[in-house]
Amino acid sequence: MSERPRVLVARQVFPETVERLSQHFELSVNTHDEAWDKAELIRRLQGHQGAFTTGSERIDEEVLAACPELKVVANMAVGYNNFDMDAFDRHGVQATNAPGVLTDTTADFGFALLMATARRIAESEHFLRRGEWQRWRYDMFVGGEVHGSTLGILGMGRIGQGIARRGAFGFGMNVIYHNRSRLDAQTEAECRAQYVSKDELLRSADHLVLVLPYSPESHHAIGAAELAAMKPTATLVNIARGGIVDDAALAAALRAGRIAAAGLDVFEGEPRVHPDLLTVPNVVLTPHIASATVGTRRAMADLAADNLIAFLTQGQAVTPINRLVGRQSHGDE
Ligand code: DGY
Repeated sequence: MSERPRVLVARQVFPETVERLSQHFELSVNTHDEAWDKAELIRRLQGHQGAFTTGSERIDEEVLAACPELKVVANMAVGYNNFDMDAFDRHGVQATNAPGVLTDTTADFGFALLMATARRIAESEHFLRRGEWQRWRYDMFVGGEVHGSTLGILGMGRIGQGIARRGAFGFGMNVIYHNRSRLDAQTEAECRAQYVSKDELLRSADHLVLVLPYSPESHHAIGAAELAAMKPTATLVNIARGGIVDDAALAAALRAGRIAAAGLDVFEGEPRVHPDLLTVPNVVLTPHIASATVGTRRAMADLAADNLIAFLTQGQAVTPINRLVGRQSHGDE
């Protein structure tokens, strides 16, 4: 009887997911959810054919070169900027992600953050908790209008489209977007969204939501110059990835009132947060939880597990990121 493939579960995950994987594989699990550095990750990963990762584990040339038995890495995330895809291709390792299952939950959260930011919910709640509320005032925590305003979306994939539909049909917003490539006319009509240049997006949006993938090209796509181009009354929401916004420039712009407010779920170098962002009042900060509902996190974990099982037992992943060229068989060779 051939040995079962060995799989490393690099972070703690639902017990049901571990149980399901254990029916197919010899598992090593990071039960205590320790933060492994690169050397420790390599040490743990060596000798395994599969890995279950989250966006926190960086899988690059050094890791793949040190783990020649590795065949597949399944990310429990739709974003995969923690993977060096050129290195995956060089080593003939299959990478998979978890698209589709988190679209609506993440779009809901994008809207929640937009509302909290524009309507100053966190800031006013802190004020109340500090016991500073003495009386009602006509101008207390006045924020920006959401309904009927102009919603700008940078990055118009599935999540961006979900946000557009919520804005257009739920809040009567005028939706404009910019994306690497323009959507087809039918999708634009379904989202009631109009394609504009990035410059116009920055100039016209009352609320700008970032939903584009992180890459070297999108690094600091929003920096000091872009923030200066926005309306002083505008809000900025980042549910995409840290690094897309220059956090130091954003903190300076918020402090100087160059834009009204920001809502951030992701940060450069997270879980560290730029110290200046922690001291400006007009920013809502959440710890990368846009996809965090029980149902969605389960669906993400299930899809990552499906990918490992399908690839290591049948040689074909469910949601592959890369196409492996020139390999005879992948799964149980
Ligand atoms: C994703 O799926 O990319 C989310 O950011 C969760 O990590």
